[in-house]
Amino acid sequence: MTDRTPGFSTLAIHAGAQPDPTTGARATPIYQTTSFVFNDADHAASLFGLQAFGNIYTRIGNPTNAVLEERVAALEGGTAALAVASGHAAQVIALHQLLRPGDEFIAARKLYGGSINQFTHSFKSFGWNVVWADTDDIKTFEAAVSPRTKAIFIESLANPGGTVTDIEAIAQVARNAGVPLIVDNTLATPYLIRPIDHGADIVVHSLTKFLGGHGNSIGGVIVDAGTFDWAAGNKYPMLSEPRPEYHGIKIQETFGNFAFAIACRVLGLRDLGPALSPFNAFLILTGIETLPLRMQKHCDNAKAVAEYLNRHPAVASVSYAGLPEDKGHNLARKYCPKGAGAVFTFSLKGGYDAGVRLVSNLKLFSHLANVGDTRSLVIHPASTTHSQLDDAAKIRAGAGPDIVRLSVGIEDKEDLIADLEQALSA
Ligand SMILES: Cc1ncc(COP(=O)(O)O)c(C=O)c1O
Repeated sequence: MTDRTPGFSTLAIHAGAQPDPTTGARATPIYQTTSFVFNDADHAASLFGLQAFGNIYTRIGNPTNAVLEERVAALEGGTAALAVASGHAAQVIALHQLLRPGDEFIAARKLYGGSINQFTHSFKSFGWNVVWADTDDIKTFEAAVSPRTKAIFIESLANPGGTVTDIEAIAQVARNAGVPLIVDNTLATPYLIRPIDHGADIVVHSLTKFLGGHGNSIGGVIVDAGTFDWAAGNKYPMLSEPRPEYHGIKIQETFGNFAFAIACRVLGLRDLGPALSPFNAFLILTGIETLPLRMQKHCDNAKAVAEYLNRHPAVASVSYAGLPEDKGHNLARKYCPKGAGAVFTFSLKGGYDAGVRLVSNLKLFSHLANVGDTRSLVIHPASTTHSQLDDAAKIRAGAGPDIVRLSVGIEDKEDLIADLEQALSA
């Protein structure tokens, strides 16, 4: 690269990657190995003691994964990142550095159903308590803050409704409370929204979705903005207190503005263990190279499909922030002017039964539990991704019984509209 600051598309292709020093291979090789040979005993000891950076064992780090980490950190404007086995693993590992039993974190009610499940049930067994707040009313975030609050968690574009979150307003609540703001940026990707530019301290992703983009690999990533002072108020002992397993080093003092990413790796990933396969890292890296092209086409297609549905007599409502009449449109213009993403919901006048019929009648849209594939996808969240919630919680999460969710792919938009047309008239 030259001295010029590279643009987003250039970073999507080049950040973190060099021709392989041994073979000259231009694409990032898949380092499909469990472990790495030490130069000598001193080298091994210094790697284990965190006195030197280098590869030890693929559960803790791997050169293919390292390229992916550097690339996502560059795209998000963070200082460092850690790739892990799934989006859910990223959430566990990020919060593992921050919460001790009895602690609380505040989360937006509008979240992916699996995250609501993870936070409500599994995290309870760790003694981590979630307190819910409403992104439509920022005061509910202020009211939820207590002396035990250790983090705030939101999605930039919320799954399933694709609603745009006012990141700056919630970042201000987090700053006032002295806790980090964690933003799940899965549905937006850094092409549409860079949460760190709006005050986020930590960004997490399911790489499984638009970043990988081809529906072939599960993965997750945690990005450290490098902005948070972990020693202030002595609230985060994992980062600020001496670590007995590393000869008493203090992670923040030693690693400065990438301390959080290091803690996630050397405490979280090392001990909890959800490592990303280098093969998946390779596929996801290949996907990221075309992220800007794909994401723009996803958004353009989604807008055309939302406009079509909005005009259709069988459709009761469309929730897509890219439509000028949508209540989230002003936030979309502020946070994601290039497009409001490609995941959104709509409801049919025929209610639950019509929704289920539509899903079965679609041919080009695949009926499955994923978003962010090149292919167009459809699901009925109330009976699948959000089925574990009671009726009131489903509605609060934007997944009521009459709601159908689309993840619009990058096929020709005319074919997608024709498929919806035949299914709606069937
Ligand atoms: C917004 C969001 N975050 C996190 C996840 C969890 O990711 P993964 O399935 O990679 O664990 C998902 C999965 O659908 C998601 O949509």
